[in-house]
Amino acid sequence: MKRIKIARILASPELIGSEVCVKGWVRTRRGNKFVQFVALNDGSCVGNLQIVFDMNKFSDEQLKEITTGASIGVCGKLVESMGKGQTCEIQAETLEIYGTADPATYPLQKKGHTLEFLREKAHLRPRTNTFGAILRVRSALAFAIHKFFQEKGFAYLHTPLITGSDCEGAGAMFQVTTLPLAKLPLTENGEVDYSKDFFGKPTALTVSGQLEGELGATALGEIYTFGPTFRAENSNTPRHLSEFWMIEPEMAFYDITDNMDLAEEFVKYCIRYALDNCRSDIEFLSEHFDKELIGRLEFVLNNDFVRLTYTEGVKILEECGKKFEFPVHWGTDLQSEHERYLVEQHFRKPVILTDYPKEIKAFYMKQNADGKTVRAMDVLFPNIGEIIGGSEREADYDKLLARIEELNIPMKDMWWYLDTRRYGSVPHSGFGLGFERLVLFVTGMTNIRDVIPFPRTPNNAEF
Ligand code: 4AD
Ligand code: MG
Repeated sequence: MKRIKIARILASPELIGSEVCVKGWVRTRRGNKFVQFVALNDGSCVGNLQIVFDMNKFSDEQLKEITTGASIGVCGKLVESMGKGQTCEIQAETLEIYGTADPATYPLQKKGHTLEFLREKAHLRPRTNTFGAILRVRSALAFAIHKFFQEKGFAYLHTPLITGSDCEGAGAMFQVTTLPLAKLPLTENGEVDYSKDFFGKPTALTVSGQLEGELGATALGEIYTFGPTFRAENSNTPRHLSEFWMIEPEMAFYDITDNMDLAEEFVKYCIRYALDNCRSDIEFLSEHFDKELIGRLEFVLNNDFVRLTYTEGVKILEECGKKFEFPVHWGTDLQSEHERYLVEQHFRKPVILTDYPKEIKAFYMKQNADGKTVRAMDVLFPNIGEIIGGSEREADYDKLLARIEELNIPMKDMWWYLDTRRYGSVPHSGFGLGFERLVLFVTGMTNIRDVIPFPRTPNNAEF
């Protein structure tokens, strides 16, 4: 008989009375010499299905290998359950044991493991209720993102992961090379001879697909990327990963207001999608980790984001009288404590800050007439701080070139990017959403290492 997933069984009362087969991993087994109960989970939902073994039909010998973590297949009749905590259960007729799990060594015994402990067991943690829920929410959010953009007619553009240019100009890139590190080929001047390297020049893993995204937007009109990005910053925080996923829409003929409108509509759509499609997972996470989670999600959906300039934001921070760990004044990059103060204490709403000082933002942003600020926009969220960073782009060839030269960005890396401003240049805008920050927000988790299956952070690339 064909396997039916537990999520479907729990959602289909009409199946009661029929023969079904389920396959999954044992969460617990308990009972007595007359009857044994197994809680089975197959990863399709947070709920377990109860399997009842009548000990007139099964022997202790047969059941002794059914311990926590073992994988089994069971066929039998689905019946309404008398017991508390479940609506239906299977009366087992046949049992197949696929794999045992030695209780002496299987790390995930019953319950009560901390998230820290589970990070060390990232190869098995997807089998816990918590990580099952997080990973299903993550998957649904990824689908929602494609659905949102595809329904709007945006093209999904695949930008390269190996690149020769540093989009964000932060210099925090992982080099990609096949040169022998122990014996590097040198030029006559004693420098590394990259002409001998795989691509004939220095390359690195991308920090952003934006520059290539702009090439797509100035041809297809509206595009989005959705892929892994890499940052070699040594920031060990609950909000930074060395490898994270980013969504970067880029749109021709959008100014910064159009860009903000899209960003707000987009994140709200994703949150709504998760609430509508992952209700039991989100309820589970709320119950166990964050009682205010659902209220917070609804709150973001039901409120317009506050929009103000960086200059206005800094003024509020300077005058609020609060002592921050990092002092704040015009010109400083905002820290997460400042962003969260504006969102959580001052406005009590998500905030979009615009028009940052050009010195703390990337070279490609549209320069304002004041000569000091650029048309940047950061979306700031409760509990998270910056969730989106974006801008209107500098569309003027001369201004862009001047900024590139001012920052000493090597022109030989940038000629193709500048060509978008030489041929049919258009006003255009875009932004980047950090996927894991969105998953953090929607799941109510507090550490970004817990919302990606296999986190990469400084000193950690296990699994
Ligand atoms: O603000 P960032 O650096 O902007 C860009 O990369 C632009 N090229 C985006 C664009 O305009 N197309 O990064 C965008 C977002 C941040 O707001 C944050 O949510 C996330 O990416 N992010 C990280 N997430 C996890 N770990 C890190 N180390 C991150 N760095 C940025
Ligand atoms: Mg940013």
